[in-house]
Amino acid sequence: MSKKIVVITGSPRRGGNSFAMTESFISAAEAEGCEVKRFDAAFMNLGGCHACETCFSTGRACSFDDDFNTIAPYIEEAEGVVFTLPVYWYSIPAPIKCVIDKLYSFCVAGRDIAGKKCALIACCEEDDMTVLDGVRVPYERSVALLKWKSVGEVLVPGVLNRGDIQKTDGCARAAELAKAF
Ligand SMILES: Cc1cc2nc3c(=O)[nH]c(=O)nc-3n(C[C@H](O)[C@H](O)[C@H](O)COP(=O)(O)O)c2cc1C
Repeated sequence: MSKKIVVITGSPRRGGNSFAMTESFISAAEAEGCEVKRFDAAFMNLGGCHACETCFSTGRACSFDDDFNTIAPYIEEAEGVVFTLPVYWYSIPAPIKCVIDKLYSFCVAGRDIAGKKCALIACCEEDDMTVLDGVRVPYERSVALLKWKSVGEVLVPGVLNRGDIQKTDGCARAAELAKAF
């Protein structure tokens, strides 16, 4: 049976740098026989966690019904989860952060989602690799808490405009990452 991978993107920029890496990853993963489901968080209706702790009590992951409830069953079923995003203000862009915050629902409801493979694909304008710490550190700590296994990180500094990613090895590394699932 093919492996199921959920890809969650965080950029609102079509044709941008993280989308280019996302598309390289997905093509390579599909060529490896994986079944990939992509969600573009920036184009979905997503709000933050209300900390009401009534998760899954209505049958759905979040009682404040939004598109996380569409994404959640795919995450629950998947063998792999990939987060792809640009750095915004030294941190995680708001829409994909809403998805990450609502992973709390699985913890509150005691649903076992441990053991998944996961990966991070991220980029930023500045040349300084430490700028990517703003997404790398929360990713690494979150996957440790979730008991997921990170199989790779593609972190690309120095890309600002659409197309800049083509001057780097980011897309090639994103494609290579697919072999780790
Ligand atoms: C609102 C906003 C905030 C940003 N903040 C940062 C930042 O803190 N550091 C940085 O290096 N780049 C920052 N950038 C630049 C993006 O990370 C960079 O252009 C990236 O390549 C965009 O990826 P995308 O084409 O996938 O959207 C920011 C861009 C925007 C639109």
